[in-house]
Amino acid sequence: MRLILLGPPGAGKGTQAAWLRDRYGIPQLSTGEMLRAAVARGSEIGREAKAVMEAGQLVSDEIINRIVAERIDEPDCAPGFVLDGYPRTLAQAEALDAMLAERGLALDAVIEIKVDPAVLVERISGRFACARCGEGYHDTFKRPKVEGVCDVCGATEFVRRKDDNAETVRARLDAYAAQTAPLLPYYAARGLVREVDGMAPIEQVTAAIQRVLEPKSR
Ligand code: AP5
Repeated sequence: MRLILLGPPGAGKGTQAAWLRDRYGIPQLSTGEMLRAAVARGSEIGREAKAVMEAGQLVSDEIINRIVAERIDEPDCAPGFVLDGYPRTLAQAEALDAMLAERGLALDAVIEIKVDPAVLVERISGRFACARCGEGYHDTFKRPKVEGVCDVCGATEFVRRKDDNAETVRARLDAYAAQTAPLLPYYAARGLVREVDGMAPIEQVTAAIQRVLEPKSR
């Protein structure tokens, strides 16, 4: 199964991509995570991306397309993948089409997580993640079951993203509206877009995605 998750920053792409990964046994390809790992390693790509990400702008199509093209050739992508945060521009969508066509592959669906922009700043500013395994949490909407202990790996250290501050979030929302939202008509024209209500609680959004992908489970 090859899926794209589309939605603005804070819509819940990463949250739902983790469920899709576990449900279908396919890797979650988050370009944001790949870039943050490159920044942490201090690689050439990381050095180029750092300031751009901290300003809430988009890293160049050329760098991102190269990262994704290499990643989808890894053996774990053979059964498919869920793209979380890619493509984000029309140029990236066209590059992805070319990558898939070269490999004789096709997309199964583009899941649009629809949210009211008013909730996004609250979602993003309350977000934190386990420092060891990366499991995502929220101050209000998804706290660890035992305070201060990761549900998944038991670690007790958590991190917050540097770009999760009000000013950068506004820039990220602007970048989404100007550069990423035009992908919806691009994929809708091919009948690939499936809308889900991202305003519902996390488990209900997951259930809606499952109904879209497994209509017989309704
Ligand atoms: P990236 O890491 O992709 O960030 P983003 O798109 O801004 O998305 P987020 O991770 O902020 O949100 P999300 O939709 O995954 O929400 P989440 O599930 O965490 O990109 C970061 C930067 O990298 C970009 O700004 C850019 O610079 C660069 N970059 C990355 N990809 C690029 C590309 N392709 N091209 C160029 N540049 C690129 O949920 C948010 C919070 O809300 C969580 O705490 C969660 O627990 C909670 N939550 C989730 N769902 C719900 C719900 N239904 N109800 C209540 N709370 C919820």
